[in-house]
Amino acid sequence: MLRHRSAAAEWMDDAAATEPEFAGALRDLARINRLSLAYRPTLRWLDALVARTGARRLSILDVGAGGGDMLLAIDAWARRRGIAVELTGLDRSPWAASYAAAAGVPARMITADLFDLDPAERFDVVVCSLFTHHLPEDALVRFLGWLEGRARLGWLVSDLHRHWLPWGFVWGAVRLLRMDPMVIHDSTISIARGFIRADWSRLAAAAGVPARIRWAFPFRWLVSRS
Ligand SMILES: C[S@@+](CC[C@H](N)C(=O)[O-])C[C@H]1O[C@@H](n2cnc3c(N)ncnc32)[C@H](O)[C@@H]1O
Repeated sequence: MLRHRSAAAEWMDDAAATEPEFAGALRDLARINRLSLAYRPTLRWLDALVARTGARRLSILDVGAGGGDMLLAIDAWARRRGIAVELTGLDRSPWAASYAAAAGVPARMITADLFDLDPAERFDVVVCSLFTHHLPEDALVRFLGWLEGRARLGWLVSDLHRHWLPWGFVWGAVRLLRMDPMVIHDSTISIARGFIRADWSRLAAAAGVPARIRWAFPFRWLVSRS
């Protein structure tokens, strides 16, 4: 069943999703991110980037930022490290920006499809989490080239490992925790739309990008360039 990337549609990608529906999903996504320690790989990667470059000031873009909880985690990380950050979140859903504003996320939120972002917008660092599985194969190849053009110092993709173990765990956990209906529907589809190492090797080769690909807990693939 999980041999190939699924093309099943997620409710979150339905433009007809209402603000309460989308906000309910973002609330539970943030819960899942906290419970699954999903911020850690990104913050560790930022630590390594700062150690390597010596940067004390960074502009950071989060693509597919959703409600901005990763941006909040990055803001807290930057405060702990004494690094000045200028944070931007990009999401095509207008409900993401309103959710982030209500949650007090200290970032400029841009509502746009990533491929429509103003070409003049460039950042020191571009990250994304739980985002790339939303894209089909051709858009993923394009996205890797897009990242190369947008990030001055480096970029990181963190997304799901397509594997029966997290699939089964998540199927049970979202029901046990009585999560939002959109999250119950989308969570296992997200894993089925996720990746194995061979997918990222193929995509990076097709994009001509010599990306670093490594596995990280909790069942994620980290694809990066510095
Ligand atoms: C599963 S959510 C992840 C949210 C957040 N990054 C997290 O880790 O919880 C994926 C987000 O990507 C956004 N998205 C999907 N396709 C997009 C595109 N082409 N351009 C910009 N945002 C997109 C969706 O609106 C959604 O908010």
